[in-house]
This record gives sequence, C-alpha cells and structure tokens, in this order.
Amino acid sequence: MVLDPQRSPLVRILRRAAQQVPGALALGRLVRRTLDPQLREIHRLQHQDAARLLQPFPDTFEERYPQLFDALAQRLAHLPAPRILSFGCSSGAEVRALRRRLPSARIVGLDLNRRMIADARIADTSPLSDYRLADAPNPDEQFDAVLAMAVLRHGVLEAERPDSCAAVLPFARFADTIARLDRHIVPGGWLALYHAHFRFRDTATAARYQADPLRMSDCPPQTLLYGPDDRLLTGMAEPAVLFHKQGSAASD
Ligand SMILES: C[S@@+](CC[C@H](N)C(=O)[O-])C[C@H]1O[C@@H](n2cnc3c(N)ncnc32)[C@H](O)[C@@H]1O
Repeated sequence: MVLDPQRSPLVRILRRAAQQVPGALALGRLVRRTLDPQLREIHRLQHQDAARLLQPFPDTFEERYPQLFDALAQRLAHLPAPRILSFGCSSGAEVRALRRRLPSARIVGLDLNRRMIADARIADTSPLSDYRLADAPNPDEQFDAVLAMAVLRHGVLEAERPDSCAAVLPFARFADTIARLDRHIVPGGWLALYHAHFRFRDTATAARYQADPLRMSDCPPQTLLYGPDDRLLTGMAEPAVLFHKQGSAASD
C-alpha cells in the first residue's frame, strides 16, 4: 500500500533537501512515478479525473474504525440484509470490516482508483460485495447506510494547512458530494463521515439528519476543519461521526 506522500516524514525531509537543487523535485517525482504503478494511477486520476477526484491518496488499513463499525452494525442489526455503500472504498478494508460484522449485508464499494478496485475484488469474493469503478451509485440505488471515510479531505491540506482550502478542495465540493450521497440514503438510514476537512452540520443536507451521540475514542477527533467560506477554522474539533436521517426506514 502506498502511503500518502504528503504525510510521510521521510518524504518531507527528502523534499526539503531537494528544494535546494534546481529541477530535483520534478525529477524525483518522475522517477517515483515511473517505478511505482500506484503513484502512476494517482497521477492519472489527478490529471485525467480531477473534476471528480476528492482525496487522491488511497491509504487505508484493516479495522481502521472499529468503534464506528460496531456501532453501525448494532444500528443495522434489525435488518435481514442491510444495504451499505462504502464511498471511496480504496482496497476494500472498510467493506471487509463491515462484512465481518454484518455477514448478510449487501455492500457496494465505489472508488475511482483502478488498482484499488482490482485489489478489493481479489481480496473479497463474496457475492454480496460489489466493487465498482465509479464516483456514484446507480441512480435508483438506495442504502441503509453510507460511509464516506477519509475521502472528503485532501493530503495537501493536511500537509500544508493553508488558510483557505479553495484551491485544493473547496467547501462547495464537500456540500455537493454530501447532497448527492443523501439522495441514496433511505429515511431512517445512516451517514458515517470521518477524516473530513469539513463539518456536516455546515451543509444544507444536515437539516434532515440528527447527530448520533457516538464518539470514537479509538480515533483522533477531526481538527483540521474549513468552514463554508473555505477559511480555516482554528481551535475547532468535530467529534460527531454518525448521522441519522429523519423518517422511517423503508426496509424496517
Ligand atoms: C484515503 S482513501 C479512504 C479509504 C477508506 N474509506 C478508509 O477510510 O480507510 C480515499 C479513497 O477515496 C477515493 N476517491 C477519491 N475521490 C473519489 C470519488 N469522487 N469517488 C469515489 N472514490 C473517490 C480515492 O481514490 C481513495 O482510494
């Protein structure tokens, strides 16, 4: 698994050294891309699919958010076959973690990264798991829960912490993605949102949801946050990660 180059301390040190030599940064990037197929795929997405791409880096790992997965499984336990969407599923670790807790769930994993979707399909051959190279579900698909974990963010914002996020990932893209995901969540369904640079409560969509009291003590709170005006929110933390859509679930 490639690590987010913006967050690796070694890469940061090498980058600082290379900044002293004219052309060294560009050459270093070219060499790394040539040698590493995963970096080539990220580069392809950044240049050919920039309008759809959110967080470009596919970092993930097994059992990344255990308390959230447990809470979601508990809240969906009354459904015989809950329908779940993992938006930005990367290599599918999140889908597999949910599958362990909800064996009869129908889980769709979406990602724009071709290598990650191929890896996810190899690692999980369950007929109830469906990995797709896409940025949206099928138009009429409905889910009991949607997860958008570590996708409504950007490694560059994390590394450079600019005063405005506008040039990298503006709030409008966050709000638009949330509104699009909301269309696929049934009344009474759930939205899980974490490792985002924005607060759900700042979107118009949030009016239809109630924040769940769940707090993840096994993951750090979200603190690098930007407001609807794209400005950095200093000294803020967002502990809410799970949101309940108002109304009765169709599949209850
Ligand atoms: C950091 S990974 C998150 C993986 C997993 N959700 C987790 O939290 O461990 C972000 C993933 O989102 C994907 N992604 C970015 N923009 C996307 C979009 N518009 N639609 C679907 N996937 C996207 C990236 O390709 C990347 O694999």
